[in-house]
Parts: sequence; structure tokens; C-alpha cells
Amino acid sequence: MKTILHITSSARAEESYSTNLGKEIINLLKVAYPLVVIDTWDLVQTPPPLYTSEMIQSFYISPAQPGYSEINELKYANELLTRLNSADIIIISTPTYNFTVSAHLKAWIDQLVRVGVTYTYNETGNRVGLISNKKVYLAIASGGLQPKGNLVKDYLADYIKDVFKTYVGITDIDTYRIEGTAFPNFLPNYREDLKDF
Ligand SMILES: Cc1cc2nc3c(=O)[nH]c(=O)nc-3n(C[C@H](O)[C@H](O)[C@H](O)COP(=O)(O)O)c2cc1C
Repeated sequence: MKTILHITSSARAEESYSTNLGKEIINLLKVAYPLVVIDTWDLVQTPPPLYTSEMIQSFYISPAQPGYSEINELKYANELLTRLNSADIIIISTPTYNFTVSAHLKAWIDQLVRVGVTYTYNETGNRVGLISNKKVYLAIASGGLQPKGNLVKDYLADYIKDVFKTYVGITDIDTYRIEGTAFPNFLPNYREDLKDF
């Protein structure tokens, strides 16, 4: 049995191409794994909290400190960690808003990354992720087309991949895109977008 955590972060609810691309990924995973548990987390319906001064201070408290799990400012971050740890596969559906992830997803990532919990430092001072053995699929929608080439800046997929690699420890990340959704007469073809799945 596989547990799939599906994070959705578009303001467009059922109309969202990124959400629907993520659902198509789930359909394909169901073929490979007939027994799946799906945990859907709609970040727009239940928005993550934004950083406060107290929250940031709490993020630096050692998890070994007594009462750590009861700290109010860490409630959301702890729920996130529980749901992430329960998942074998994580699907992150995000629209492209102004070149990068939705603000809801950025706030979720800010709750995810925690020193001593998702990453630590090794003896040479480099960051090392503490969570591994999970697969991540990115399901990205964009109104325009993603430019091709090595010199193209990708503030969305590269950003998520760098965060997961450096601050979490997850490197097995596949990216799928539905592009050109703002073009006149655009018709989604999720199976075509996922032909290399
Ligand atoms: C505020 C805003 C900013 C956007 N910025 C970009 C952008 O930088 N690049 C792009 O290709 N599309 C951009 N778009 C288009 C969306 O990425 C496109 O509508 C996409 O389908 C949204 O994802 P969704 O269908 O999952 O909601 C933007 C749309 C909005 C509303």
C-alpha cells in the first residue's frame, strides 16, 4: 500500500489545471499501486499561517526540549511533518504566479523547513536533509510556455527541487507541466502532458 499526499495550491478550485494534472498523476499511480491512500491538502481552503516573530523563534527551539510538541506556534508545522512523514509519494500541484509558486505553497514550504527537524549541518558546515525515501511529483500549470535551454531561469521547479534537496533531503523529484493555459482556445490534454510518466 502507498500513501499519497496531494498538495493543491491554486485559487481556482476544480477549474485548476495544476490540481487536475495532479489528479491524473494519482490515476496513473493507481495503476502501478492498486492500494493507495490519498491525503488531499488544499492550501487555499486551509491557508498555512505566515511567519510571526514568535513562530520564527519557535522554529529554532531544539526538538529535544521538553514540551516541544506542545508549542502552539509549531502546531501547523508539526501537522505538516506528520502528514509528510506518513506519505510515500508527494504530489505538489501549483500554478505559476509571477514566475514562481503560489503564495499559499510558499507559506507551506516555510512551515516545512526546520533546522534540526528537516535538515541539519554536517561537520563541514553544509546543510544535510534529514527526510528521504520519498518520491515527489511536481504538477505545474502555466499560462505561457516554459522556455527551453540550459540558461533559462526556472524560479518554480528549480526552487522547489533545491528546497527539497537541501532542506529536506528528498532528491527523487519528477516534474510535469501543463503549459499555455492562457492561450485562446486552450484545451487541456493531461494524458499528453503525462506521456513520459
Ligand atoms: C496572478 C497571476 C500571475 C500569473 N503569472 C504567470 C507567470 O508568471 N507565467 C505564466 O506562464 N503564467 C502565469 N499566470 C497564468 C497561470 O499560471 C495560469 O492561469 C495557470 O493555468 C494557473 O494554474 P491553475 O490552472 O492551476 O490555477 C499567472 C496567473 C495569475 C492569476
